[in-house]
Amino acid sequence: MDKLVIRGGQPLSGAIRVSGAKNAALPAMAACLLTAEPVQLSNIPDVRDIQTTRALLETMGVETEGSGGRHQIQLRAQAITHAQADYELVKTMRASTLVLGPLLARTGQARVSLPGGCAIGARPIDLHLRGLERLGAELRQEHGYVVAEARRLQGNSYSFDRVTVTGTEDVLMAAVLAKGETVLSNCAREPEVVDLAALLTRMGARIEGAGTSTIQVQGVDQLGGASHRIIADRIEAGTFIMAALITGGALEVTHCQPEHLGGLIERLEEAGARFRIEASSIGVAAGGRLGAVDIATAEYPGFATDLQAQYMALMTQAVGTAAITETIFENRFMHALELNRMGASIRIEGRRAVVRGRSALAGAAVQASDLRASASLVLAALAAEGETIIDRIYHLDRGYEKLEEKLRGAGAAVRRIARLIPRTAGASQPRTAGA
Ligand code: EPZ
Repeated sequence: MDKLVIRGGQPLSGAIRVSGAKNAALPAMAACLLTAEPVQLSNIPDVRDIQTTRALLETMGVETEGSGGRHQIQLRAQAITHAQADYELVKTMRASTLVLGPLLARTGQARVSLPGGCAIGARPIDLHLRGLERLGAELRQEHGYVVAEARRLQGNSYSFDRVTVTGTEDVLMAAVLAKGETVLSNCAREPEVVDLAALLTRMGARIEGAGTSTIQVQGVDQLGGASHRIIADRIEAGTFIMAALITGGALEVTHCQPEHLGGLIERLEEAGARFRIEASSIGVAAGGRLGAVDIATAEYPGFATDLQAQYMALMTQAVGTAAITETIFENRFMHALELNRMGASIRIEGRRAVVRGRSALAGAAVQASDLRASASLVLAALAAEGETIIDRIYHLDRGYEKLEEKLRGAGAAVRRIARLIPRTAGASQPRTAGA
């Protein structure tokens, strides 16, 4: 398996370009199942989860063109030959369950593997399923799969018991082809939901309220093709901002959407970071020692759980004690133990991590447990003395496009060592978390 080798101590400088948002691209790709016409997506990030989703859609009969390298993909679901998401793919990427709503709405049936547990929490999909039931789907569980059937979905009202991002997306994609009006309440307000609604609207859907907690949908009989540009990845942008700060550097983060990063920027300003915000770029500089600031993760527009691990690494370098409360996932502190191995002083108290700074970090061999935990270790390594070797970076490759190249371009000493043992035939990608 590939590893990253990072020699710490180089302040980042110059500019880093942000890619398209993985978590917006994944539902957008699933949305192609709603129409027989082509859907063209640009600003697609070149990351593993996109390749996995493409492979998943191809198993269903979707024709695909384009490549991650060109950041464009065309998807055409002229005929859906296999309305199923197999366990082998779902187990490597939970977001595969996003095909459930669109498959059901388009074909009247879907068979999707249940995702099972995950490294950051239990992450059930019960709220997706209940929403689909409210739209008239009949569901049963069979050999680890959920089997959904409906003649034609019927609009209805549904209130999510708790805010779920992919749950909102899944049920929204079903509702756009349901008969009549659907009112979804307690919806996720994340920019990725808004981006999906924008694509669906271009395809002919009638949606109001995306970005607020109540979304109203007037179902239509069919949808057509569309072209759509995926929003910038706010989590990648936030990761680079914190990478600059942890190294005491100054960086221009370009091709991003600063309006999506309010929760993070506010906290970092409080900690002493200085920002220059423009329409699509953010200039950030440390401006001296950072101070510790408490955060609690929350649904958008609050502090994103997907930035919590990176923030924890940053707080090891801030002066004072920061309490970090994780309210979204019950087990998302795995990085803390690895950070402690590098010299951090982090105590876990249930859903709260108490970080005592400032600690001198020292390079070590560490291993990542999920995508954002990996990013947190990369940040710590950039600030550590000596060399850090990060194992299991397939997690990073799922969601960060060419991370080491981007960081190298800003002056970091990062290299990848390719796997030494060739993968044996039939050996599968390890089971992973996230997305
Ligand atoms: C999305 O996951 C993201 N993934 C995650 O990003 C992100 O961490 C998360 O939203 C929260 O922002 C994609 O968009 C592809 P949720 P999702 O449903 O939709 C509970 C990354 O690193 N819940 O909003 O799966 C759930 O267990 C990834 O890029 C239920 O109980 O998250 C969690 O505690 C990781 N029942 C909470 O809700 C359900 O049916 C929020 O999860 C659904 C969710």
